[in-house]
Amino acid sequence: MSSPIVTLSFTEATQKRRSIRTLESKTTVPDSTIVKLAEAAILTVPSAFNNQSTRLTVVFGVDHKKLWSITATALLAKIGEERWNGGTKDRIANYANAYGTIMFWDDESCAAAMKEHAPDIYKDKTEEWVQQSNGMHQYYLWTALEALGLGVNLQHYNPLIDAEVQKTWSIPSDWKLKAQMVFGVPKEGSELGEKPQKLPLEQRLHVFGANAKM
Ligand SMILES: Cc1cc2nc3c(=O)[nH]c(=O)nc-3n(C[C@H](O)[C@H](O)[C@H](O)COP(=O)(O)O)c2cc1C
Repeated sequence: MSSPIVTLSFTEATQKRRSIRTLESKTTVPDSTIVKLAEAAILTVPSAFNNQSTRLTVVFGVDHKKLWSITATALLAKIGEERWNGGTKDRIANYANAYGTIMFWDDESCAAAMKEHAPDIYKDKTEEWVQQSNGMHQYYLWTALEALGLGVNLQHYNPLIDAEVQKTWSIPSDWKLKAQMVFGVPKEGSELGEKPQKLPLEQRLHVFGANAKM
């Protein structure tokens, strides 16, 4: 695996990361670079007991369009025309108009195997750990894609779309869809929105015993 080129430092990339929901069907890098990032996430992101339960599906081009067409059909059937036309239709069109989507899954057979083999004192923790590792894959890819100049947002139309998506791309039935990460070039002139307000640091961060001189 050769490393994809990311020119920002880790700190710069984490500061640049935002939710960008209006995207164009354009990219800043070849598809192969995005695939390499997905490979790098799979090969480097940690998991509890090295269980490796996260699965990824990357869709570009007609496959990306197909995913959002499946989502549109499922949503319309669920919420009805009135709600669909009251904003949802445009939101889904935004995602369909992007460049690609990464789907994040948990392999439940892998998760069950971890639970079975984990020492008794950890058995009630394994489901949480599966989710935490999936979230780490999401953050890795979100930050890395934005470092490559792409805009990214995270959506959750699972489990509504799971069955149709699994049928369309022959995805194992043990995989459960957890999130859809949409990416593309941010549409020129679209508002990014205010930087989200963060709670006071002292409410969320406690530090003890740090050496003030270092
Ligand atoms: C676990 C998680 C779930 C999220 N779900 C959604 C979602 O379903 N739809 C969406 O548009 N944004 C979603 N977001 C994006 C958040 O709303 C966003 O990250 C947050 O408001 C901070 O804004 P920023 O990403 O621009 O820093 C999610 C983010 C996280 C971490």
